[in-house]
Formats: sequence, C-alpha cells, structure tokens
Amino acid sequence: MPRRSKISVIGAGNVGATAAHWAASKELGDVVLLDIAEGMPQGKGLDLLQAGPVETFDARIKGTNDYADTAGSDVVIITAGLPRKPGMSRDDLLSANMKIVGACAAGAAKASPEAILIIVSNPLDAMCHVALEASGFPSQRVVGMAGILDTARYRAFLGEALNMSVKDIQALVLGGHGDTMVPLISSTAISGIPITELLPKDKLDAIVERTRKGGGEIVALLKTGSAYYAPSAASVQMAEAILKDQRRILPCAALCRGEFGIKELYCGVPVLLGRNGVEKIIEVPLTADEKKALDHSAAAVKELVDAMAKLKAAG
Ligand code: LAC
Repeated sequence: MPRRSKISVIGAGNVGATAAHWAASKELGDVVLLDIAEGMPQGKGLDLLQAGPVETFDARIKGTNDYADTAGSDVVIITAGLPRKPGMSRDDLLSANMKIVGACAAGAAKASPEAILIIVSNPLDAMCHVALEASGFPSQRVVGMAGILDTARYRAFLGEALNMSVKDIQALVLGGHGDTMVPLISSTAISGIPITELLPKDKLDAIVERTRKGGGEIVALLKTGSAYYAPSAASVQMAEAILKDQRRILPCAALCRGEFGIKELYCGVPVLLGRNGVEKIIEVPLTADEKKALDHSAAAVKELVDAMAKLKAAG
C-alpha cells in the first residue's frame, strides 16, 4: 500500500500556519504543525482539520510541541524565527534566528533522518547554512525558499503592468534573498516573447526595483510582521515538487559549489527540484551586468555567513 506523504511545518506563526493550510488543501499528505508555544499549534491544527469537510480535502493534521510527532516526515518546512519589524533588514534577525533555526533543524533532523528540509526563516541564505550544519544532512537535502517568492513578486508586478495573465510570465530572480537580489531581465518572457518587446525600459527598471524591496513594502504596511501568503505558497510549491518528484526548475537557495562562480555558499539559483531534493543546479547564461549583480549579491550572503561565524566564536 502506498504510504501517505508526511509534511511537518516547524513554527506555527503566520508563515507556518498558512503553509500548513496550502499543503492540506492541496492534499500533499498528512501535516504536522509544531511550535514551542503551548496550545497554539494544537489549536490551529484542529481548526485546519475542521476546514477539511468544507473545502473537501483529506489530510490528517496534528498540532504539537513535540518533535516525536514529526518522526518520519518526508519534507520539513522550517519557518520558525522572529519576523521583521518596520525599519529592520532581514539581516537584523541574524543572531536571534540562528539559534532558533539551529535548534529546529537539529530536532527535525533527529526525528526524520531521511527528510528534505525547506528553510524559510530569515535571513534566508544564512539560515540555510545554519540548518545544513545543525541537521548534518547532505546539502542536496537542505534547500531554501526565496527565489520562488521573489520571482512571484516580479511576475505579479509584471502581470499588473501588462494587464496580462501571470500564468504566461516566465521569469527568474537569482541571488541572495535581500535587496541585492537579481531579477534576470534576459530570462523574462511572456509565453516566449521577450519582456523587452512588451514593456519600456523605465517601467521594467521600476518593477525590478519594487521586486527587490517587495518584502520591505509589506513589512512597512503590516507593521507587526512580514509577508506570509506568498512566502508560504512558495514553500509549498517546493514541497510539492519534491513529494511528487516533479523535477521542476525553480529558483531556490542551494549550496553552490562553483556554479555561477559561487563557492560553498547558499545563494538563489535555478534548481532542478525532485524527490532527492536539489537534483541539480542549472547554470544559465548571464549578461555581464547580471553576473556582476549576482557576484555582489553572493558577497552580501558571504558577509552574513562570516558574521555568524564570529557570533558563534563569541558564544
Ligand atoms: C519577505 C520575507 C518573508 O520577503 O523575507 O517577505
């Protein structure tokens, strides 16, 4: 008998709870929602379970404070950590979230030694390094969510500007998940038609800039936290690609080992995502400007990784 897939979501805040919602409603498998707050994940889990008969999805959903309940997960989505407040950069979260994500990755890895970890907590690329180390997993099974979100923002703004369906917009946003991210205009097309044929340069430049600051725009509006609908949807798209072995090419944070000239560093790159996690990093040709921007973005990630090493050495 085929076994149902099991997805655990660590952190039952807005991103985690909404990820559980998307995963259950897509019937990707059974869902465990874990948080350290007592009662909260249990309450949200029960509530989501009770949405099943209305929305007609079948999924066992359990809220818990205990990693034992996550045992045997196929995919673990780590969303735990502090969110940004207005005026904060994702990097300001570094010291608090490295402890939280480290503990979550270690707990999840122990309970599910074969799982694939999808990291969502910020600062994203740096947190992938933390999870890689704390889990002891091979890098193929530790992958970060950011590129799909950044690309989704870019595609949403393009769809609005063009008054065309977002479904036909193919695009890639590479680099670290921060203001240095690199939307690739050279790879942006609407059903194969280069975007430069459809939008003037000044409009495109403004959309690229808005995409880079897309997370901050929402933080400034919400005032008490950061975005969650699109981030959680993006993480569940990754979970689906893995669980169904879809072998999709999606922009994700993966450990680069020389690809794009980036060495031993997590960075947003096109990833072939399948049942084994990061099956392959796909290198695409970049213009000289795009390569320069990607180098700059990778350098910003490297700075954070170095800062974490210092924080760790200082205890
Ligand atoms: C954002 C946060 C989640 O980009 O990083 O909205």
